[in-house]
Amino acid sequence: MDLRSIEEQLGELESRALAAVADAADPDALKQVEVAFLGRKGELKAILDGIGRLPADDRPRVGAAGNAVKQHVLAAVEARGHRLDQIALEVRLAAERVDPTLPGRPLRRGSLHPVIETTREIVRVLGQFGFVVYESPEVETDELNFQALNIPPDHPARDLWDTLYLDERGFDSDGQGQEAPTRHLLRTHTSPGQIHVMRQTPPPIRALLPGRCFRYENVDASHGFEFFQLEGLMVDEGTTLGHLRGLLDEVAHALFGARRPTRFRPGYYPFTEPSVAFDVQCVICEGRGCPACKRTGWMTILGAGMVHPVVLRNGGIDPERYQGFAFGMGPDRMAMLRYGIDDIREFLTNDVRFLEQF
Ligand code: PHE
Repeated sequence: MDLRSIEEQLGELESRALAAVADAADPDALKQVEVAFLGRKGELKAILDGIGRLPADDRPRVGAAGNAVKQHVLAAVEARGHRLDQIALEVRLAAERVDPTLPGRPLRRGSLHPVIETTREIVRVLGQFGFVVYESPEVETDELNFQALNIPPDHPARDLWDTLYLDERGFDSDGQGQEAPTRHLLRTHTSPGQIHVMRQTPPPIRALLPGRCFRYENVDASHGFEFFQLEGLMVDEGTTLGHLRGLLDEVAHALFGARRPTRFRPGYYPFTEPSVAFDVQCVICEGRGCPACKRTGWMTILGAGMVHPVVLRNGGIDPERYQGFAFGMGPDRMAMLRYGIDDIREFLTNDVRFLEQF
C-alpha cells in the first residue's frame, strides 16, 4: 500500500459515489448510498484504515484528501436530497391539482322539525306578552302528575290519562300501590309543571312549559303514545278568563290567520274551574263542515281554565289573593292543522322525505 494507490482509490471511490448519488431514485436509496460509501463500515473508512501503514509524512495529505472526498460526496447527497424532495412535491402537486374554478359544494342545511317549529312560533307569540319558558321533568310522581292537580287516587277523571307507570321496587306490577304519592310515572301531560313553577316562583307568574308527554294509548293516525304539549300558566292578582281568551286569540290568529273565528266551550278538568275547550274555525272547510271537523265547522286545539284554588294552594299560593289561568295545547295537532298532515305517526318516523317538506 503506497501513497499513490491510496490517492487513486480515493479518486475512484469519489467518482463511483457521485454517480451512485446521482442515480438514487428516492430518499431510501440515497440513504443506502450514503451509508455504503461514508458509513462506519463504508468504503471510505476501509480505505482510510490503510493510512496507518503509510510513512508518517504522507499521512496528513491522505487524511486531507479523504476528508475532501467525504465533503464532496456529502454535498452531493444533500443536493440530491433536495432535488428528490422537490420531485416528490411536484408529483404530489400534479396528482392533487386543485381547480379553483370549480363551483363550491352547497352546504346542506337542515330544518327544524315541524312540531318544534310550531312550538317555537307559539312561544314567540306568547313571549310578546311576557311569558317565559320553563323546563320540567318527563318522569314525575303520582303526586305531581295527579294528586297535587286535584286528582286524588281512584278519581274517575284518571281515566282521561292512561298512564305508563315505571316498574319500581316496592310496587306491584299488577297495579297494587299504583297510586301511592311517590310512585313514578311518565307524565301524561305537562300540567305537573304548573306545580313546579308555583313552588319555585312567587307570583306574578307567566310561564310556558313545552315538552314531551306519554300515554298508554293504542297508536293510530291521531293518537301517539308519545306527543308534545305546551302548558301555559299565569298567576297574578285580578287574572280573569277574559285575559285567557284574549291571549289564546293571539295564538290562534298568528297560527291560523288573523281573522280566524274562535270560541270557548264548557269543558272539564279537575285542576281548573271553570274549565273550557278552545276551538278555532276548521282550517280545512272554513266552517262549512267536513269530515276533518266531524261536520261541526270547529276544531278543538286546547283545554284551559282558571286554576283551581286547591291547585294554587298545593303550589304554595294564596287563592284569596291570587287568581290564575292555565292552558294545555298540543303542538303536534297544531302542526298537523297548519301543514295539512293527516297522520301523527309521521312526526316520529324520522323519514327525511317527510321532514324535508317543511
Ligand atoms: N292537562 C290537560 C290535558 O292534558 C290540558 C289542560 C292544561 C287543561 C291546563 C286545563 C289547563 O288534557
